[in-house]
Amino acid sequence: MKEIKVFAPATVANVVCGFDVLGFAVNEPGDEVVMRLVDEPGVRLLKITGDDGRLPLDSAKNTVSASVQHYLKHLNREDVGVEIELHKKMPIGSGLGSSSASTVAGLFAINQLLGNLLTAKELVPFAMKGEELACGYGHADNVAPALMGGFVLVRSYEPLDLIALPTPKDLFAAIVYPEVEVPTKDARQMIKAKVLLKDAVTQWGNVAGLVSGLFLNDIDLVGRSMKDVLIEPTRSILIPGFETLRELAMENGAVGFGISGSGPSVFALAKDEATARKITDAQQNHLTKLNINSNAYVSSVNAEGPRIM
Ligand code: HSE
Repeated sequence: MKEIKVFAPATVANVVCGFDVLGFAVNEPGDEVVMRLVDEPGVRLLKITGDDGRLPLDSAKNTVSASVQHYLKHLNREDVGVEIELHKKMPIGSGLGSSSASTVAGLFAINQLLGNLLTAKELVPFAMKGEELACGYGHADNVAPALMGGFVLVRSYEPLDLIALPTPKDLFAAIVYPEVEVPTKDARQMIKAKVLLKDAVTQWGNVAGLVSGLFLNDIDLVGRSMKDVLIEPTRSILIPGFETLRELAMENGAVGFGISGSGPSVFALAKDEATARKITDAQQNHLTKLNINSNAYVSSVNAEGPRIM
């Protein structure tokens, strides 16, 4: 195989209570990468579409090409020549793992072209390099579920210990992206560095509750564990009408609600697709009244991760 086209999914990082340690993948939106092997050694990013010229085309600075370079260096395959096209199909700075989707599509593509030398889990550290480039910190809670599919727990960063969690079949994410941009870098800087012990107790109880809910297939337990007393109080200020969006989600049948990643997207979990749709409709109507454009995505959890198109 000389050329490949890959789709990699958006992700909901944190899953409300698990800042930097929990995430899951969805079926849409996502990004696409076209990659081909060429004779001349080196990694070249030829073109980016759908980004309105906002992403760097410089191969050393773009997360897709830079992480492919890291991958080739690690495998001592810098003799390989690669040409890349990145097609952005999802909003940048949306809290849906936009940089992660691009980076993961690129890594999945090069790994396929070279004969699947590494597993999805083994690709995660290279994708984390891309996150470091994009937002200053190599967090794994977007790239790990984007690569591995389903829900993933980052049990530890040093050493990296990733746990694939069960994916409940009847679970739908109702995601709304209000069109106000919140770069992850800025959203990370506003978080308080110290937390109170009583808040930490609440938080780790909820993380354990959410993980237990996934193992027990107890969606109500997952929902009532979606509480964040550490990060949400600060970050929610950047999201217009956040508390009303929560009320609308819960009134319309959500099991839980919160910020997706670093925002401004919000998401709710629901037990069926029709309920998820009802939630996003109500929330979008509310945002329209506030004169804010929005996009909605309703999706089951994506268990497979990236795919060849
Ligand atoms: N865990 C990261 C954060 C996710 O909340 O900053 C960014 O999408």
